Amino acid sequence: MEVQRVLHMNKGDDDGSYAKNSSGQKLGIMKVKHFLVQSIEKLFHSYPSAKCIRIADLGCSSGPNAFVPAENMIECIHKVYHKLGHKPPSIEVFLNDLEGNDFNNVFRSLSKFYDKLEKNGSKRGSCFVAATPGSFYGRLFPDHSTHFIHSSYSIHWLSQVRRGLNKRNICYTVTSPPGVHEAFLDQFRKDFTLFLRMRSMEMVPQGHLFLTFQGKMDENDSFDHWVSVGMTLNDMVMQGMLEEANLDAFNIPLYGPSMEELRSIIENENSFNIFSLETFKLHWDDFYMEVFKKKPEDNYIRGEYVAASLRAILEPILTSHFGDAIMDEFFRRLAKKISEHLEVGKGYVDNLVVSLGKK
Ligand SMILES: C[S@@+](CC[C@H](N)C(=O)[O-])C[C@H]1O[C@@H](n2cnc3c(N)ncnc32)[C@H](O)[C@@H]1O
Repeated sequence: MEVQRVLHMNKGDDDGSYAKNSSGQKLGIMKVKHFLVQSIEKLFHSYPSAKCIRIADLGCSSGPNAFVPAENMIECIHKVYHKLGHKPPSIEVFLNDLEGNDFNNVFRSLSKFYDKLEKNGSKRGSCFVAATPGSFYGRLFPDHSTHFIHSSYSIHWLSQVRRGLNKRNICYTVTSPPGVHEAFLDQFRKDFTLFLRMRSMEMVPQGHLFLTFQGKMDENDSFDHWVSVGMTLNDMVMQGMLEEANLDAFNIPLYGPSMEELRSIIENENSFNIFSLETFKLHWDDFYMEVFKKKPEDNYIRGEYVAASLRAILEPILTSHFGDAIMDEFFRRLAKKISEHLEVGKGYVDNLVVSLGKK
């Protein structure tokens, strides 16, 4: 599977879009804002009188979350400069994602973003946004040009997975056969090492990298929604709705490392110091509460909500492999399967947040 070609979140802003189904990720981004402030403070002790600061968000996708990290970074930059008694610098913002991302949706929201900045006290003409399409596993920016790079819920996406690696499972889970963990970890190690190497070339000395993404904290509990995706596809094979060989050939190119795995890759690559590395859990019900401001009424509604969030992420990649005819039926079944999991107390998403300074 050519991940770069097929991977993108659901486009536009209709009910099935990522724009309308990404409140969980937004909650994660907001949850780590206090670490972001600390990270930006560290950067500015190295660049107290910079006239222009270049920041980037990698894997920005589309919809509101494409701007939330930039808003947070700019707010923090202003706070820190005021605290230090310096005039805030001009800010260049680079929004990156793969070529298939709905950048038109992003551009259409730009004027709203500038209006919001002005309302929050930024001078018009002090911030400039540009899009930088391409894979973050390759070069995106000129040598030593970028001060601060943010990425949320994107680094767990791999550049590729070996075909047929993981029969009947669609990503690494506790039920995967031996060897599968090593293969996914190995791909993650290669990809993330490359990611760090590319960023180390692009970032200024003492530049900061701030990453939040899916990790694993507990071998027995992690990725349970991915297990549900795999189980639902398996059920459809058993009922003759999908070809077994077709499922066997499918893997979701995704791996959430443990804290120790991540630390070891960063240390071996050796371009960055680790300033903080934390884990935190979010429950799917937290996301539901964030959107609807009340608890879900029953388990099926909870399941439907999770399935809709996963649909916004997975539909393009599933459609490219299985075709679109089964999508409605698949996600209806997935909602039911997930509601069964939620009923027995599962449904956490494990997260990692890491703040790195370039050596
Ligand atoms: C779940 S979305 C996260 C969007 C947003 N950052 C958020 O927190 O809501 C993951 C994004 O990462 C992008 N992505 C995955 N692999 C990528 C790569 N190699 N280079 C650039 N973007 C990538 C996907 O296209 C997708 O838009």
